[in-house]
Amino acid sequence: MNLLDEIKVKAKAANKCIVLPEGNDERIVRAAEIITKEGIAKVTLLGSLADIKALCPDVNLDGITVIDPKVVDIAPYANLLYELRKAKGMTIEEATKLSRDEMYFGVLMVKMGQADGLVGGARHATGDMLRPGLQIVKTAPSIATVSSCFIMVLPDGSKYGQNGVLVFGDCAVNIDPTAEQLADIAVASAISARSIAQITEPRVALLSFSTKGSAKHAAVDKVAAACARIKEIAPELSADGELQLDAALEQSVAALKAPTSSVAGKANVLIFPDLQSGNIGYKLVERLAGAQAIGPICQGFNKPLNDLSRGCSVEDVVNVTAITALQAL
Ligand code: ACO
Repeated sequence: MNLLDEIKVKAKAANKCIVLPEGNDERIVRAAEIITKEGIAKVTLLGSLADIKALCPDVNLDGITVIDPKVVDIAPYANLLYELRKAKGMTIEEATKLSRDEMYFGVLMVKMGQADGLVGGARHATGDMLRPGLQIVKTAPSIATVSSCFIMVLPDGSKYGQNGVLVFGDCAVNIDPTAEQLADIAVASAISARSIAQITEPRVALLSFSTKGSAKHAAVDKVAAACARIKEIAPELSADGELQLDAALEQSVAALKAPTSSVAGKANVLIFPDLQSGNIGYKLVERLAGAQAIGPICQGFNKPLNDLSRGCSVEDVVNVTAITALQAL
């Protein structure tokens, strides 16, 4: 059974409720039908029932809850949003208007426990999708940084990672993380590696253009400081840095450049120093190595919220919903 099939089996057993705010997108409506039919999750679709039926007349909506934020009693949602954001200057009028927005409404549903998680982004840029989550759901108690990872599944026969499966972080959220944020990204990516990618023994490499002091620069110092921070906040985690990519992955290079490292040469979780390298890095591996890139998977939120690419397929929506249901466990 491949990794996504395993995730779907676990999601079905979890029986979670996932809200899909973009009921105005055909891919989302078609995915909602598949998710419901296959029992991957219970789905709440946001939008007008009439518009959804007009968009996809052939889709069977049996078992799917449809809520239109434009017509429901918005007061409980608006009051919650107002309470959460009044210290930041939000008025009740602004909260009422924002709560009618499907993305804010969906995130408020998750905050109120009316849904276990949310999947959106088919019609929203990453920032517009994440901001309501950052403002309303916020981070899990033990973590200060929301970040993301990709599960990279290399073609059959790859010698890298755990049977060709690696986790890359952060490739989608934090543009220029501090050393503290980089440490949070590493810890969260190791948790995602274990809980979602089924990597039994995460070995985390903090990547750089330097290995163990081979180059001197503030950018290198940041990665080394992140590694030192991990030793404080997660001493049990197998993590090392700064490491160049070849030292992280190749035993022969590791033996030369980082002979005492317990991670070098066998890393299966790769942490990039910033978003430029992370975003380019996962796309290089996807395009040039033919890897399957599953994600971005958001990590660090207090409740699971996940972002879709605007170029997503129906299958992507189904897969990300299964991952979100698993995160809700
Ligand atoms: N973790 C935790 N909290 C955060 C984070 C974070 N990573 N980022 C922002 N916040 C908090 C802020 O402190 C703030 O809290 P407050 O209002 O309660 O004080 C709140 O979230 C909102 O912050 P903003 O300043 O409004 O948000 P910001 O402008 O920092 O945007 C965002 C955050 C949207 C995640 C931004 O970092 C971003 O745009 N990242 C890049 C996204 C992107 O374009 N990715 C590439 C495409 S994706 C792909 O290719 C797969």
